[in-house]
Amino acid sequence: MTDSAVTSTAPTPYLDLVAATRPARAYKHELLKALCIGAGDQVLDLGCGPATDLAALAEEVGPTGRVIGIDQDPAMAATARARIAVYPNVEVRQADAHHLPFDAATIDRARADRVLMHVADPSAALAELHRVLRPGALLALAEPDWDTLAIDHPDLDLSRAFTNYIAQRANRNQAIGRQLPRLAAHAGFTIRTVRNAAAALTDFDVAETILGLRRNTTRAVAAGYLTPAGGRAWLDHLTGGDTFFATVSLITVLAAA
Ligand SMILES: C[S@@+](CC[C@H](N)C(=O)[O-])C[C@H]1O[C@@H](n2cnc3c(N)ncnc32)[C@H](O)[C@@H]1O
Repeated sequence: MTDSAVTSTAPTPYLDLVAATRPARAYKHELLKALCIGAGDQVLDLGCGPATDLAALAEEVGPTGRVIGIDQDPAMAATARARIAVYPNVEVRQADAHHLPFDAATIDRARADRVLMHVADPSAALAELHRVLRPGALLALAEPDWDTLAIDHPDLDLSRAFTNYIAQRANRNQAIGRQLPRLAAHAGFTIRTVRNAAAALTDFDVAETILGLRRNTTRAVAAGYLTPAGGRAWLDHLTGGDTFFATVSLITVLAAA
């Protein structure tokens, strides 16, 4: 059983704030370059959210190419559609990762950025991506591994209680990061590179944006992972101005269909 996600059901401003952080900008830029998108390419952004990466993709494909953002959430798709209205080479469709609205072997490049952590069947979604990509076409994936979350606190038991809550309850596919290479290979992809773009978070406010420390502490208390007093002690120190450090793995995979 999982509680509402650390990230997935969060509103648009949350995704914008995360995308604006330095760690997010760094790995997104790296993924974009790794895809080697050419002018005229047909590019799919699966789980495009509020159009976070669609404009950058549109610049890469140029006027002869096409970018298609897919998101299953109607509100998210509508927001994305409004935001990319000025780009004639971009469209957004509401669809499910398990049933992509494309013929086989019609897409040149695809990316899925923190999406497989939310889907019901990541293997099936990867098989769909493999079906729609042309043979040899590139796929870029990025997914966190919530089991690797570590947050410094003088009371290691409190820290473990909080990270256990995140690892066990906060998302549907908590360990998808480490599973990406194996699941992508099983779906028929040839793995080109696997990297860990782990964020080293030294600023509480940035960590709060990415990890939702306050709201997830409330949830960890409600779920019994922390006592109310423990939750207060946990947050009091984190917000008290002492030196802050947290890290979590973000696994990126570049693969060829
Ligand atoms: C964490 S957000 C990431 C959004 C965007 N890729 C970004 O980097 O900002 C995950 C997105 O995946 C979408 N999503 C979740 N499950 C999906 C599914 N089964 N099919 C399509 N989209 C899905 C959500 O609606 C959400 O917009």
